[in-house]
Amino acid sequence: MAERIETLITEEEIAKRVGELADEITRDYEGKSITLLGTLTGAVFFLTDLSRKISLAQEIDFLKASSYGDGTTSSGDVRLSLPTKLSLEGKHVILLEDIVDTGHTSHYLMDFLALQNPASLKLCSLLSKPSRRVIEIDIDYLGFSIPDEFVIGYGLDFAQKHRNLPFIGVLRSEVT
Ligand code: PRP
Repeated sequence: MAERIETLITEEEIAKRVGELADEITRDYEGKSITLLGTLTGAVFFLTDLSRKISLAQEIDFLKASSYGDGTTSSGDVRLSLPTKLSLEGKHVILLEDIVDTGHTSHYLMDFLALQNPASLKLCSLLSKPSRRVIEIDIDYLGFSIPDEFVIGYGLDFAQKHRNLPFIGVLRSEVT
């Protein structure tokens, strides 16, 4: 079986949309400073690109959540394996996800972050697969809504590979 990668969202389309989201966030939080929290590992590229386009004072950090499911899809049993050391009390916090799939991870993290009394808390995700949602979650800033395809690149992996692709692709297996 050979692997073929089909482009779903190009590097240029990602850059344009990230710029638009950054402009929207810059406008919405005018005069304030913000705290961007990215989820490891997938949101690393998204955070670094978005952060540099936002014209506001900002703190950045990362969280890692692990989901104990069947290995291919996240379960409701999400746990934080690496918490932020930042104090979030009174801060304007934006959680950055690479993708919202079932919604379990974002839902858990938003509940966890809300307990720390931030002044405001919003969710920003580069991608969303609405057809896969198990738990309802509002995404305040969304890059792209995508169909139920296995996507890789720009931080997203298949067995830890392909995160470094500059575009979002769909991995296809072909019989040769
Ligand atoms: C991915 C992604 C989200 C989560 C979304 O993380 O980064 O955090 O899954 O899925 P959900 O909406 O069904 O909960 P993953 O656990 O694959 O970790 P990774 O970023 O290190 O690949």
